[in-house]
Amino acid sequence: MHLTTSSIADCKIIELPKIHNYSGNITSLAGKVDLPFDIQRVYYLYDIPGGAHRGGHAHRDLHQLIVAASGSFDVLINDGNHKRVVQLNQPYNGLLIVPGIWRELIHFSSGAICLVLASHKYDKDDYIRSYDTFLKFKNK
Ligand code: TYD
Repeated sequence: MHLTTSSIADCKIIELPKIHNYSGNITSLAGKVDLPFDIQRVYYLYDIPGGAHRGGHAHRDLHQLIVAASGSFDVLINDGNHKRVVQLNQPYNGLLIVPGIWRELIHFSSGAICLVLASHKYDKDDYIRSYDTFLKFKNK
């Protein structure tokens, strides 16, 4: 997926495998098996204060799967042409975000945990943090 040509149509909800158990469920994910990328990094956001606004950037190469491991929040995705709001509120649904998509995370419920599976290790140079620069990459 290319930074300049990707669109929000390339971002989709992936229903994750769920192993039912009488004492609770398990979701187990393997890179390239359950996801279209290998997993190089896992991180999660927690203790998120009410009204917090996270994200506000795009990535050049990074693919991510975003999961509401607990609670709920909204993800705004924007390819410079079209925007969409995706509500995440189930731990067995993940939102795939491809490179070249501006994202913002808002409306976190109390106690929400945002789990992110990422295709690359942390690299500050992979971020596009200026919206104007993002639009230039998208030829806007
Ligand atoms: P950032 O990705 O901007 O957070 P969000 O999109 O959730 O608002 O990261 C916030 C800070 O944390 C920034 O200084 C970079 C640092 N960080 C790491 O050091 N490693 C990581 O894997 C991530 C995701 C962030």
